[in-house]
Amino acid sequence: MNQPVRIGIVGLGTVGSGVVRLLVDSADHITRHAGRPILVEKAVVFDPAKKRTVQVPGGKISSDIHDISRDESISVVALLVGGLEPARSMMVELLEQGKDVVTANKALLAEHGPELFALARKQGRSIAFEAAVAGGIPIVAAIGECLAANRIESIRGILNGTSNFILTRMEEDGSSYAEALKLAQAKGFAEADPSMDVDGTDATQKLAILAHLAFGAWVPWAEIPRTGIDGLDIDLLHYAAELGYRIRLVALATRSDDRLAMRVAPALVKIGTPLAETRGAYNAVSLVGDAVGRMFFHGLGAGQMPTASAVVADIIDTVVGRTAITFRTTGLLSPDSPAAKLAGVATHQRHFLRIHVSDRPGVLARITGILGDHGISIASVIQHDPVQQDPADIQQTGVPLVIMTHTCAATAVEAAVAEIDRSDAVRGRSVCLGVLDD
Ligand code: NDP
Ligand code: HSE
Repeated sequence: MNQPVRIGIVGLGTVGSGVVRLLVDSADHITRHAGRPILVEKAVVFDPAKKRTVQVPGGKISSDIHDISRDESISVVALLVGGLEPARSMMVELLEQGKDVVTANKALLAEHGPELFALARKQGRSIAFEAAVAGGIPIVAAIGECLAANRIESIRGILNGTSNFILTRMEEDGSSYAEALKLAQAKGFAEADPSMDVDGTDATQKLAILAHLAFGAWVPWAEIPRTGIDGLDIDLLHYAAELGYRIRLVALATRSDDRLAMRVAPALVKIGTPLAETRGAYNAVSLVGDAVGRMFFHGLGAGQMPTASAVVADIIDTVVGRTAITFRTTGLLSPDSPAAKLAGVATHQRHFLRIHVSDRPGVLARITGILGDHGISIASVIQHDPVQQDPADIQQTGVPLVIMTHTCAATAVEAAVAEIDRSDAVRGRSVCLGVLDD
C-alpha cells in the first residue's frame, strides 16, 4: 500500500462536513481510486469551538490558515469557505506555500480567477473546481476533457439550485417565496448571502466559468445581463402553468462568429421539456457540440453530499496527478485567454407578458394596438373575471392581463412594453419573460 496523502480542509460548513463524511465513510473505495489512503489531517474554520456534525480524523482544528499552509506534510487543501475575503487571501497563501487547491467557491473564481490561476501556474500548483458549477454534475470535466474535441456552439442551463428549489416549491405546493427560501437555507442550498442566489448573481458567475471552459474566452461575470427570480410572484407561475409552461431561471450562452451572446433570466419553459422537468435543487445543462450534437446533463446542483461528491473527485484527481496535467496543458484563465465580445442574445422567440390594467372599456384594444404597432402578433390572452377581487384593490392595482405573443424580436417587445407601461391604462410595471419551446 502506498503512503497516505494528508490533506487539509478549510471550512467545515455544509460542503466541508460532507467532504469529511465522504472521505471517512467511503475510505476503502476512495483509496482504490486514489491508489493510496486520503487522510484529513487538519481543518481550519472560523470558530473552532463550534459543535460539529463530523470529526476531523487527524483531530486538529483551528482558526489559523497557517496551521495548514505551513504544514509540509499536507500537499492538497480543499478550500470550502464562501465569499471573496478571506477566501482569496487564503487561496493565495495556500498556493504560495506550495499546496494544490480544490475549491467549490465560484464567486471567488468568477471574480479573481485569472489572478489566482496565474499564481497557481507560477507556483507549479493546480486549482480544481468541479464543485463550483452545477454541484454534483461533472460538467467541468465533461466540457474541459470529455468533449474537448468539440467546438461548443451553445449552452443552456439551470445553474442555481436555490432558485430552482424555490420555484418548484411555489408551483408544486403553493409555498410562498419567503417560506421556500427559508427552507432552501435550512437545507444548506443557499449562499451565506442568499441574495446572490435569487438575484441571478450565482448563476451568472457559474455561466461565466462554463463559458470560459466551453468557448475559451473570459467574460467578466458582471457584464453578463442578469435578472433573478426575486421579482417573480406565485401568480406568474400559475399563469405560466395555465399556458402549459413552468418558469425556470435559465442561463444561456451562444457562440456566433467571434461573439458570445449570454444572459441569465427567468423564462417560460414548456412542460415536458428537460428544463421544465428539472425540479427542486436539481440543475441541468444542455449543450451543443459540433461533433457530439446535443447533450443533456441533469443532477443535484446544490446540497451537502452531491457537492462533496464533486469535491472528493477533484481531491482524488489531484492526488493521482490528473489535475496537474489538465491544469498545465489547458491554459485555463490564462492572460492569453481572449476577452469575449458580448452580443445581445438572439431573441426571436415567443414572449409572455403580464400587464396590470385598469378595468374599463377599450383598454384591451389599446394594449393590443400598441403590440400591433410594434409588429407583435398575439398567440393567446388570459384575463380572468375579477369577480373575487375587492373593487378597491381593482381600482388601485388594476386587473392582470396575460398575453402570449407569437415569435417576435425581443427589441420589439421591449419597446412595446415600455410604451404600454407609460399608458394611463396600466398600473405598475409589466413583466415580460422569454419563452423556450424546445
Ligand atoms: P457554509 O457557510 O456552510 O460553511 C462555510 C465554512 O467556512 C464554515 O465552516 C465556516 O466556519 C468557514 N469560514 C467562514 N469564514 C472563515 C474564516 N474567516 N476562516 C476560516 N473558516 C471560515 O458554506 P457552504 O459549505 O455551503 O459553502 C462553501 C462554498 O461552497 C461556498 O463557496 C459555496 O458557494 C460553495 N458551494 C456550496 C454548495 C452548497 O450546496 N452549499 C454547492 C456548491 C458550492 P465555521 O463553521 O466556524 O462558521
Ligand atoms: N447556492 C448555490 C445554489 C449552491 O443554490 O446553486 C451551489 O452552487
